[in-house]
Amino acid sequence: MHITSVGVSKWCFLFSLAFCGLLLLLIPALQPTPRQLDLPQPRAQLRPAPAAKASTHGLQHAEALEGSVQGGDPGLKRGSTWQGMPTETQVARDGNISPERDTDSQRNPEMGGGKGLGDLGVRSYGQLESKDIFIAVKTTRKYHKSRLELLIQTWVSQAKQQTYIFTDGEDKELQLSAGVNLINTNCSAAHTRQALCCKMSVEYDKFIESQKKWFCHVDDDNYVILPSLLKLLSSYHHSQDVYLGRPSLDHPIEAAERVKSDGSVSVRFWFATGGAGFCISRGLALKMSPWASLGNFISTAEKIRLPDDCTIGYIIEALLEVTLTHTHLFHSHLENLQKLPTDTVLDQVTLSYGGFENTRNVVGLVGGFSLTEDPTRFKTVHCLLYPDTYWCPKLKGGHRH
Ligand SMILES: *[C@@H]1O[C@H](CO)[C@@H](O)[C@H](O)[C@H]1NC(C)=O
Repeated sequence: MHITSVGVSKWCFLFSLAFCGLLLLLIPALQPTPRQLDLPQPRAQLRPAPAAKASTHGLQHAEALEGSVQGGDPGLKRGSTWQGMPTETQVARDGNISPERDTDSQRNPEMGGGKGLGDLGVRSYGQLESKDIFIAVKTTRKYHKSRLELLIQTWVSQAKQQTYIFTDGEDKELQLSAGVNLINTNCSAAHTRQALCCKMSVEYDKFIESQKKWFCHVDDDNYVILPSLLKLLSSYHHSQDVYLGRPSLDHPIEAAERVKSDGSVSVRFWFATGGAGFCISRGLALKMSPWASLGNFISTAEKIRLPDDCTIGYIIEALLEVTLTHTHLFHSHLENLQKLPTDTVLDQVTLSYGGFENTRNVVGLVGGFSLTEDPTRFKTVHCLLYPDTYWCPKLKGGHRH
């Protein structure tokens, strides 16, 4: 009898312990989760605050961020180790960088961000017009014919007033015939860190001078889908601190802190890959001034010995402690562009083509042009966006012979 009674109370005790434990576990789940209603665009805020903290407080990279990142954006899965090109400096600074360049084959098919912005209840600040955006295109003299002319024929023609082409050589002919803003930076034409940072420095100064609300930087192999860009930026206010772009790694980069300290400590930060394009609000750009204006950008880049796009990330994330808003609407030639679902291509903000050894890396859009006529697919994209353009094929019933 005695033994059974002890057994029963033991079971009772264990049961109530388990019950209490269960209750404790349920308490947080029963509370309503605080919703960040004030964030202007929940979809673009793919990295919640705790993850951002992790990057600056030196948690062991991707693992710490994985949960939140994966939850927010299927494009940033663990499989996608690498979406950017390692520069020698990056590799030297961050031993964790994987040497593989294109793991897009392992990526989620939704990498393009799935549906457009339209169906997400994006808050709009209304008034933003395309003339409020300063679009800087970085190029070099030798690509004026092969790359720039295509851009001028296509998307730049729709945004001549707000597009500024930063190059390193005179081309009066192009400037006169195309009526574009061509700025000779007088920077070296070499593809070195110094020359690229020199151009970025001029871009920054010209943007500040322009009084426009948004700074967007793209490369000369990017197509900018202007309606998508306007839609994306409309969901933020230019006086907020906004840094938008595609991270080129799935973890923050690490660099020796040589601006705020002597280089004995290191900092971790995210940066938007320049080859896919990125945007910065005027409010944030003004705060960057001590490290970016009037040649300071070049000395900042020299101090940390990183390329131009990393230096932008360093100033914003490490020095100003503003986090990069990760978006997969920007695309560089380092991704597998054929993986972009065709029905989402026109919802993207930037596109690209080619790559070093892969000239067939283009978006899989079918339209009025063959691959021979339009190897980059930019003309096809353009004619889908602006079918009234005089050189676009007039399609009858969708067929062309
Ligand atoms: C480049 O040099 C030319 C000629 O000296 C000058 O007119 C122009 O303003 C310079 N460009 C920049 C961005 O400083």
